[in-house]
Amino acid sequence: MITIDNVRKTFQDLEVLKGVSLSVNEHEIYGIIGQSGAGKSTLLRCINGLESFDSGEILVDNTHLSSLDRTGLRHIQKRMGMIFQGFNLLERLDVYQNIALPMKFWGKNPNSAEAREKITKLIDLVGLKDKLHAKPKELSGGQKQRVAIARALVLDPELLLCDEATSALDPEITKGILSLLQKINKELGITIIIVTHQMEVVKQICERVAFLSDGSVLKEGRPEELFIKPERDEIRSFLREGSENLPAEGVNIALFFNDDNNTEPVVTEMARTLDTDFSICWAKLEDFRTSVYGSLVINLKEKDRESVCDYLDKKKVLWEVLS
Ligand SMILES: Nc1ncnc2c1ncn2[C@@H]1O[C@H](COP(=O)(O)OP(=O)(O)OP(=O)(O)O)[C@@H](O)[C@H]1O
Ligand SMILES: [Mg+2]
Repeated sequence: MITIDNVRKTFQDLEVLKGVSLSVNEHEIYGIIGQSGAGKSTLLRCINGLESFDSGEILVDNTHLSSLDRTGLRHIQKRMGMIFQGFNLLERLDVYQNIALPMKFWGKNPNSAEAREKITKLIDLVGLKDKLHAKPKELSGGQKQRVAIARALVLDPELLLCDEATSALDPEITKGILSLLQKINKELGITIIIVTHQMEVVKQICERVAFLSDGSVLKEGRPEELFIKPERDEIRSFLREGSENLPAEGVNIALFFNDDNNTEPVVTEMARTLDTDFSICWAKLEDFRTSVYGSLVINLKEKDRESVCDYLDKKKVLWEVLS
C-alpha cells in the first residue's frame, strides 16, 4: 500500500532522512521504531504530505506523492487518519464535536442523520458512549486518545498513522488503546502505521517493523526477528534490557527459546553432557503478538565456549555471544 523509496530530507543543514526505503502492505499493522531524533515523525509527516521530501519517492497505492499538486495531496490526506501523543483535541468542543471536526473541514454537515449515525457508531467502537457531551478536560488521557482515534476514523480512512499515540499513557491504558487499534485493523480493515520508541508497543501489535536510526533504516522485519537477530549494536542496545550487569569474566551467551524448542531441558542437559557448569545470569519471557520467546543469559568459562556453541547449534537453539 505504501512504498517508500530512498527518501531524503534535509532541514537547513541537517540531513534527517538519509535514503529511507520500506514498504507497508495493505491491512498490516506496521511499526517504525527508533531513538528520539531518528526521524520517525518526519517520515510519518512525509507519508501524509504534511512535509515535503528532497528526493526519492513515496507511493500510496500507485500514486507518486511527489507528482501531486495541493488538491491531489488533500485527497490523499483524506484517505489517512492521524493520531498523536498529545491527542490534539479542541478544549471548547465536546466529544461529539471533536469527532465531527474533520467533517466540518471537508464541508460535510456534522448534524445530518448520516453523520450522526457515523459518529454514534464510532463513539461506540471506541467505548465512550456515556461521554458523548463531555469536554476534553473531563476525560482521562486514555479516553482523550479514544476520542482522537474516533476523529481520525470519521472520514473512513484506509490508513491510520499513529505518532507516539501511547507514549503519554501508563502501561495498562496503553494495552487498552493497542487492543482498540487491533480491533480497528481487523474489523474495519484499516492499515495502521505506528511510530513509537516503545518496543512493548511493537511487540504487542505490529506484524512488521522498521528500525530507524539517525535517518536510516537499519533493519526491517518481524518484531521477534529484530529482537533475536538485531545484527547491529544500535538495535541490540536499544531493544535489549538487562545485559549491562553481566559478569566481566568468562563468556556470556544469550539463548532464545520459542514454542518450537522450549520443551527440552537444554541447559541442564548441556551441563551434564559437556560435564561443566554455567551460571544463569538473567532470564525473561518476551511476549510477541502471536508467540512467546524466552531469553536466558548464561555465563561460562572461555575454555567451554566452542563446545557450548557446537552443542547449541546441534540442538537448534538460537544463541548469541554477548560482548
Ligand atoms: N521543522 C523542523 N525544522 C528543523 N529541524 C527539524 C524539524 N523537524 C524535525 N527536525 C529535526 O529532525 C530530526 C528528527 O526529528 P523527528 O521529530 O523526525 O524525530 P523522531 O524520531 O520523531 O524523535 P522523537 O522520538 O523525539 O519524536 C531532529 O534532529 C529534529 O530536531
Ligand atoms: Mg517523533
